[in-house]
Amino acid sequence: MERMKLIELLNDMSLEEKIGQLVQLSSNFYEDEAVLTGPAMEFGIGEAEINHAGSTLSIFDPKIIKQIQENAVKKQPHNIPLLFMADIINGYKTIFPIPLAQGCTFQPELAKKCAEVSAKEASAGGLHVTFSPMVDLVRDARWGRVMESTGEDKYLNSLFAAAIVQGYQGKDLKDKGSIASCVKHFAAYGAPTAGKEYNNVELSLRSLKEDYLPAYQAAIDAGVSMVMTSFNTLDRIPATGNKWLMQDVLRKQIGFEGVVISDWAAIEELITQGVAQDKEEAAQLAMVAGVDIDMATNVYIKNLKRLIEKGILNETQIDEAVLRILTLKNELGLFENPYKDLDIEEYSRYNLCPEHRKIARKAAADSMVLLKNDAILPLKKKEQCIALIGPYAEEMHLYGAWSLLGEDSNTISLKSGMELADADNELLCVKGVNLLSEKETLYGFKGLVSESNPVTKDAMKEAIKAAQKADIVILALGEHAYHSGEGGSKADLRLPKQQRELFKAVSQVNKNCISIIFSGRPMDLREIAEGSKSVLQAWFPGSEGGNAIADLLYGIVSPSGRLAMTFPYSTGQVPIHYDHFNTGRPFNGDHKNRFQSKYLDIPNEPLYPFGYGLGYTKFSYSEVKLSKTNMNKQDTLTASVVVKNIGEHEGIETVQFYLQDQKASVVRPVRELKGFQRVFLQPAESAEIKFEISEDMLRFYNYNMDYTSEEGTFLVFIGENSTTMNQAEFKLQLC
Ligand code: NOJ
Repeated sequence: MERMKLIELLNDMSLEEKIGQLVQLSSNFYEDEAVLTGPAMEFGIGEAEINHAGSTLSIFDPKIIKQIQENAVKKQPHNIPLLFMADIINGYKTIFPIPLAQGCTFQPELAKKCAEVSAKEASAGGLHVTFSPMVDLVRDARWGRVMESTGEDKYLNSLFAAAIVQGYQGKDLKDKGSIASCVKHFAAYGAPTAGKEYNNVELSLRSLKEDYLPAYQAAIDAGVSMVMTSFNTLDRIPATGNKWLMQDVLRKQIGFEGVVISDWAAIEELITQGVAQDKEEAAQLAMVAGVDIDMATNVYIKNLKRLIEKGILNETQIDEAVLRILTLKNELGLFENPYKDLDIEEYSRYNLCPEHRKIARKAAADSMVLLKNDAILPLKKKEQCIALIGPYAEEMHLYGAWSLLGEDSNTISLKSGMELADADNELLCVKGVNLLSEKETLYGFKGLVSESNPVTKDAMKEAIKAAQKADIVILALGEHAYHSGEGGSKADLRLPKQQRELFKAVSQVNKNCISIIFSGRPMDLREIAEGSKSVLQAWFPGSEGGNAIADLLYGIVSPSGRLAMTFPYSTGQVPIHYDHFNTGRPFNGDHKNRFQSKYLDIPNEPLYPFGYGLGYTKFSYSEVKLSKTNMNKQDTLTASVVVKNIGEHEGIETVQFYLQDQKASVVRPVRELKGFQRVFLQPAESAEIKFEISEDMLRFYNYNMDYTSEEGTFLVFIGENSTTMNQAEFKLQLC
C-alpha cells in the first residue's frame, strides 16, 4: 500500500480504532492454554475493544493464528490485520545456543544465520515480529538475563546486534522468511543495581552514551523495526515514561523512526515505581514519552480517549503512533496478505530440518569455551570406560529459559551425543544428584518447574562406584535453565550445593575428571576448575547440544569459543568487566602495601577474563608491528602480528585487538576491544594478521561531552585475550 493510502486509512479511522492499534493483548484473550511471559493483568474490556486491538503476543499454534487473524480482519472496522509477536530468542523450533553463548562464537555472521533460520521457521508458523535481539550490555552475572545478551563488550555487542537484526529482517520485510525485529530493552536494563531483576539503574550519562547505547544504535542503523522500553529507572526516571530518553535520545540523537513498544505492563508499573498517580497519569507519561504500544495492560485502552477529551493529549500524538504501526504492518505486506508466510506444510518441513540442525550444531560447538585442559582432551577413540555423571548427563532441556517452543524430545542429550560419537567406549551413565535442591520451588513461564527423573538416595553411591570403575569421568553439571533468564537473579554464583558435593566425592576417587558446565551465566567455578583436568563451558547449547559437545570432546571440531563475559573469581567481584578504569592506586601485587585498590580476601583478577578460551593447540604471537608510529586525523595506520600454530593439532585462533588511550581529559578504560579475526591454522602454519587503526576508533565523550579524539599516546594490544601484554605504542596528532 502506498503511504498516501495509509494516511487516508488513518484519517478514516475512529479514535477508538486508533487507540486499539496501540494495544497489545496477551494470548489469554485468544486461547485457553495461553503462554504468559509476564503477570496476568486485569483488563475489563469487551468484545468491541478486543476487535480493535492492533497486536498480540505469544500465540504460537499456526492454525490458531490463522483463525484469529481471519476473525480479526473480519471484525476490525477497516479490516486491519493483527501483528503477531513473540519472544523468539535463541530459536523457534530448532533451538540454538543462548545469546550469551552465541556471543562467545565471536562470529556475528553465524548468529545472523541462526536468526535467519529462526525467522524462516517462525514466519512459516505465522509470526510477524520477534522481541529480539536483547542487546543490553551486561557486567553482573548475578542478573539472570545475562543469558539473553551477547556479553559485556560494546563493540562485540554492536556487531551481533546488527547481524541478528539483518538475519531476522532480511533485505525486505515482505520477503518470504523475514520477520520484523524488536531490539530491547531501551535503555540500560543490563545494569540493575546489585544484579537484582527489575532493579533501578544508576549510571553516568557518559557511560550510558559510550558503553550502553552503541549496541541499540547498531541495531537501529541496521534497520530494526521496533524498540522495546525497559523496566528500569535511569537517573531515577523509569525508562517507559522518560521523555528525554525516548524523544531526545532515541528519536532525535539515534534517529529511530519505527515503533516503540513498552515492556510487559511497564506503563502500568509507572504507578508502582512512584511517578504516576494512577493509570491515567501513567498513560499520559508513556504517550508523551513516545511509547506507541502498551504491552499487556489496559492503561492506554481505558485512558487515552479521556486524556484527549480533557485536552491533556493531542490526537496528533495518537495519529503519529498509529501511523508507525500501520507502516510496519504495511512493510510486512499484511494489508495484501494478513497471514504473510504462514504455511502449515512449510512449517512442518522447516522445523528442525537437517539443514537447520546442522547450523544449530555448528553454533553450539563454536559457542562452547574450553576453560581448562590438562592434556586430557580430546578423548581418544579407544576401548575405555567413561563414567558420565551428573544431572546434565541425560538431561534434554538444554535450551535455556527463553525457549518457548523447544521440546525435550527434539534435543540430543549429552549421553546420546557421546553414544553416537563413539560406540566402542563403555559408557556408565549416572545422574548422581538432582538439578534442583530438595526444597527448591522454581517457576517458569508455564508454571511450576519439576525435576526430570528425580534420583533415589543411592544415586550418589552409584556415581562414586561408576567413577571408581571408570578410566575417565565426565561430570555434567550446571544450573537449571530457570535459574537464569527473566526473574532469575542469584546472589551465589557457585553451582548448587548438592552438585558441589557430588563433584567433591567423584573427584576424590578419580583424578581424570572432565567437567562440562551448563549455565546461563558465568559462574564461580573455582572448586570445579581446581579439581578437574578439563573444564568445558557448554552454556545452554540447544537442540544439537549433545552432538556439539561430543564433537568437541572427540576433537572432531576444535574448541574455538572465547568468553564474551568475564568469569569472576567469586561472586564478590561482580560487577566485573575487562574494560575498567585504572584507579589512582592500581594494585601492583605488593600485599604489604595496604593502600592500593584490591581485595584482602580474593585476587583482583577474574578466574577467566573476557576473550579467554583454549583450543587443542597452541599459538605463538610475534611482537606487534606498526606501519608507523604517528598518525593524524585523516591517516590510518596498520598494526600487525604473525600468529603461528606451534602445537600438534589444527586449530582456530581468535586474534584480538585492543586499544588504550593513555591520557585524556576524562579517565579512559585500561583497554577496549576494537577488532578481532578468527584464523584457522594447521600445525606449523602461520599467518600475518592486520588491523587498521583510524582516528574514529579513538573517539570518546570528552570532558565537554563532545564525541571526539584527543591528541596523545595510545597503546595497541594484539593477542589471545583481554589480558595480553603484547603491545606497541603510537601517537595521534590532530594538526
Ligand atoms: C518481558 C521481558 O522483559 C521482555 O524481554 C519480553 O519480550 C516480554 N516480557 C514479552 O514476553
